[in-house]
Amino acid sequence: MAIMSKGRVLATGGTGYIGSHAVVELIKAGYEVEIIDNLYNSKAAVLGKIAELTGVGPKFYNVDMCDKPALMEVFARGNYDAVIHFAGLKAVGESVEQPLRYYATNVGGTLNLLDCMRAYGVKKIVFSSSATVYGVQETPKCEETMSTGSGISNPYGKTKFVIEEILKDAATADPGMEVSILRYFNPIGAHPSGLLGEDPNDRPNNLMPIVMKVATGEIDKLTVYGNDYPTPDGTCIRDYIHVVDLVKGHLAALEKMRPGAQIYNLGTGQGSSVMEIINEFSRVGGIQLPYEIGARRAGDLASLYADPMLAERELGWKAELSVANAMRDTLTFLRKEGLKLRV
Ligand code: WQD
Repeated sequence: MAIMSKGRVLATGGTGYIGSHAVVELIKAGYEVEIIDNLYNSKAAVLGKIAELTGVGPKFYNVDMCDKPALMEVFARGNYDAVIHFAGLKAVGESVEQPLRYYATNVGGTLNLLDCMRAYGVKKIVFSSSATVYGVQETPKCEETMSTGSGISNPYGKTKFVIEEILKDAATADPGMEVSILRYFNPIGAHPSGLLGEDPNDRPNNLMPIVMKVATGEIDKLTVYGNDYPTPDGTCIRDYIHVVDLVKGHLAALEKMRPGAQIYNLGTGQGSSVMEIINEFSRVGGIQLPYEIGARRAGDLASLYADPMLAERELGWKAELSVANAMRDTLTFLRKEGLKLRV
């Protein structure tokens, strides 16, 4: 007897770090999932890992969301109930050098996606946004009391803000649309099996993938970008959330969708400093991480973490895994990849 599916979901960027973990959770929850990805910053081998974890090999289209005719073709066959939209360029520094490429890809690609959804009557979208949209306001960041859009220090963050505004306007114009905007804080960690993890094709900008490359010796030394901030140990504080908690937040959002546009922080509500991350990784991994203190990085805020109460109240979702869990799972992933770690 065929098991009733909860619905058909298209995951854009579904072979990426966050996307692949989300596809696993969606399939486990009973959804039929298909993926489009242009493999710019991910590998097709991830599809086999998803199949190993779920017993299902999701249908995959090697399609760029900027290729509207190809995307329309996918929707023509898809019969989707919802889209979870992960695809996009996300390197903050690169976005400063190549703003037009970031707007064309992230915003242009999303407009293509929304046109395809409208053409085929797909009314639900969950969007991967970022806490960057809060700009320089004080922390903790709260969806209900804080405006967005001012003081965003880079085009990457501005594309996320613009897409949020597009989605809100689209939901206003079409009462049947159901939008859930999820503002990520700092995703870290890997699937506990070690089969999925952060494995970018490009040079990483984020702290944890750089820590991973220092742990394997690919990068000699970690540079701490400043230890003269107004924080307890002088290094910047961020809200590091385990990627499995993060994607469970997507599932919760998908299951609680309603007409209009809802916005939720997906963070733990706890902050950790750069030095705390370094020390925790060394403690959990038994690895001495070589580091030096360098100059501040332009655009960094001293402290940034979530007020996660709205997601808890409305979605019944709360982060449960610790930074130590994320470190352990990251180390399992590195070892599964056959990478030798420093002692
Ligand atoms: C974290 C802390 C750095 C590297 C960005 C984007 C955000 C989201 C997450 C995509 C900061 C410090 C880092 C290093 C360091 N991206 N650091 N040495 O800047 O909080 O957020 O990534 O969705 O939108 O803005 O994350 O990991 O780059 O930095 O000291 O080699 O680690 O200064 O304090 P960030 P990050």
